[in-house]
Amino acid sequence: YDTEVEVMWIKIRNKTKKDIEITPTSLIPLYGRSEKNLRDHRHVSSLLNRIELHPYGIFLKPTMTFDEKGHKLNSTTYFCLGFEGNSKAPQGQFPTIDYFCGRGNLMNPDAVEKTIPAATTHKSIFDGKEVLGALRFRKKILKKNEEINYALIMGIESTPGKKGTQNIMNIFQKLNTPAKISENLQKSNDYWQNYLCRTKLDFGDKKFNNWLLWVKLQPTLRKLFGNSFLPHFDYGKGGRGWRDLCQDTLTLFLDEPEKAKKLLLDSFKGVRIDGSNATIIAKNGDFLSDRNNISRVWMDHGIWPYISLRSYINRTKDIEVLNKTTTYFQDHQFCRGKTIDRKYFQKDLLLRSINNKIYQASILEHILVQILTAFFNVGKHNIIRLENADWNDGLDMAAQKGESVTFSFMYAHHLKDLSFLLKQLKGKIENIALGEELLLLLDSISEPLDYTQPQKKQKRLKTYLNTVKQPSGKKQKVAISAMIKDLERKSEHLSSGLVKKEWLKIGFFNGYYDNKARRVEGKCEVGVRMLLPSQVFAIMSGVAKNEQIKRIWSCIKKYLKDDSLGGIRLNTDFVSPQLHLGRAFGFSYGDKENGAFFNHMVIMLGNALYRRDFRKEAWEVINSVHKMATASHAQIYPMIPEYFNNEGKGLYLYLTGSASWYIHTLIEQVLGIQFKLGDLILNPKLTPDCFSGNSIEATFWHKGKNIKILFMKEKVKKDILKIQKVLLNDKILPPREGIYLLTKQSLEKPDNKKISIKIYLS
Ligand code: G1P
Repeated sequence: YDTEVEVMWIKIRNKTKKDIEITPTSLIPLYGRSEKNLRDHRHVSSLLNRIELHPYGIFLKPTMTFDEKGHKLNSTTYFCLGFEGNSKAPQGQFPTIDYFCGRGNLMNPDAVEKTIPAATTHKSIFDGKEVLGALRFRKKILKKNEEINYALIMGIESTPGKKGTQNIMNIFQKLNTPAKISENLQKSNDYWQNYLCRTKLDFGDKKFNNWLLWVKLQPTLRKLFGNSFLPHFDYGKGGRGWRDLCQDTLTLFLDEPEKAKKLLLDSFKGVRIDGSNATIIAKNGDFLSDRNNISRVWMDHGIWPYISLRSYINRTKDIEVLNKTTTYFQDHQFCRGKTIDRKYFQKDLLLRSINNKIYQASILEHILVQILTAFFNVGKHNIIRLENADWNDGLDMAAQKGESVTFSFMYAHHLKDLSFLLKQLKGKIENIALGEELLLLLDSISEPLDYTQPQKKQKRLKTYLNTVKQPSGKKQKVAISAMIKDLERKSEHLSSGLVKKEWLKIGFFNGYYDNKARRVEGKCEVGVRMLLPSQVFAIMSGVAKNEQIKRIWSCIKKYLKDDSLGGIRLNTDFVSPQLHLGRAFGFSYGDKENGAFFNHMVIMLGNALYRRDFRKEAWEVINSVHKMATASHAQIYPMIPEYFNNEGKGLYLYLTGSASWYIHTLIEQVLGIQFKLGDLILNPKLTPDCFSGNSIEATFWHKGKNIKILFMKEKVKKDILKIQKVLLNDKILPPREGIYLLTKQSLEKPDNKKISIKIYLS
């Protein structure tokens, strides 16, 4: 919990009736260089290896880091130390693969199969070889029931010189007896238990509660370990991606609001003024253009930061955050990835205005830039272009003519929702300063455009994109009321078009046009083609009508539900590769973005159905994830994996935005603990199936107060539970216009550190 080191503690006990002789040998490979050298100069880079034998283990410190663009002196030490019993040093070691294996191999090494002496001092033959932390412990006769401890302590120390060696020895001193390891293990356990208990959920079922703790930990694991280079995953190279960053903040808001706020505000620094964004966030929080240096634009990226920001504003009522200023990201990509200027160079990757000053703008401007550029960026059908993909990374072959109805729904939602937020600002602020170029996109204010003409929208966007290659830096005051009207007009135009034109007679929405500008979903020669995301965002955006949702649900059950495994698939089988849509359809059907049980989308379906008050259906969806994750054929740890395949097996075990969305949905929708502009609204959408017993309890912290909410179910046979009575600290809480809420003022009163709420449902 406070030391960056991995400890392996091995206990061996003789459970037989006879004495057993053992000669333990441990083996930890020390690779000590970049993953790139696995296939490139593996041998040459091993020649840089230098080791030091210590009585307790080995230090590997290569002379240089190998990089043909510019080799450097290395200062990092990789170490593996160990002891037996109560801190006894090993007898010796086999420090290189050659020395350990001899004529054998790692499965049958000569060090074990033959009598090769363990080394205690350095030999020149050890230099420039592949290194091992292979420790030989003393031969031992283990008597009946006798137990012996071994420990291995390994890590990476980047401080150079003596200070670095001292750091390693300090770590070793801290952990060099079984008692010390045990004490630190306990502290580590306590730390994590405490961390996870800040928000407690008790559904009255021990197994489910325990599973939830692990799910809650998932976003933190992704924050700590990133997305790449780990076993079980295949997310490519780099740090965390754009969507991941925004989604992980959803649960981080629960337990670490201040950290999440910083993460969220920092994320706006990754937005380009053309509405696209840097896609990789390195460990130190810096933004990078893209994995593998390819210029790509995902059209959904403008959606996610707003969702997180909205969640933050709901929790805190801090609407003024919209007025906070920050920088824009700028690299060699301009005009949403269409213009590449390799000569462009700014070391700090910050946008500058024409007079070479770093350009700063409000968070509101950043959001507007993301949403408005999308609104104007339409294809032939007047739907927002798919560009290089949307949420579904696998729809990456329709950059010229592809359109995403799916995320057009969400942009329509955001336009409307942002206008609602701006209404809350009115009264406090009447005008807001925006970069003057943005007025081109707030066309109702500058020069109104006929939205029914896709070419006109594209032309306007082009003018904007060319102008902001180097913005003037001049700001113009815009009346909030005029901005509200503009956004509402845009949202209305988009929503009404989508709901009418994209609805298919069969009973669901078409979500895409491919690179030949052909409609993707509906009946076709190979049967019915249906994609889940197209339906999820139509519902979540609030644009799909209730009657449409009912029909969509029947189609989901008919075409996407798998009755034997009990889950919902991402799409029907398109049978052949779709070269005009994306790589996804080349994957085996049932894996990843081609028809897997893709948890992120399934949970967002549940969330969307809850938002529209389809409670029974929503719980069926949400619950299917838990059932699949805990089925024996899932073969995974207690977590939500990215997806389940055709055998119901879980893949990519913790690394998924699903975990954040699951907890978020459970709290905000199932339990209905919702913050709206600082007020706490109690709006449970529990159905009898959610209960194992008669009560569910949630405890969490808000502004230094501990809030406990108990949901009590009376014996009922009905499907829908309604609130009968609410007690606040044992006194009746009357509803206000049918809604049970605790205002921001009452929540923040300093007197009461604990708030207890009881909700009776029947
Ligand atoms: C992963 C990616 C996510 C992408 C999704 C579908 O989902 O991380 O960005 O939208 O695949 O292509 P995850 O399960 O990690 O949320």
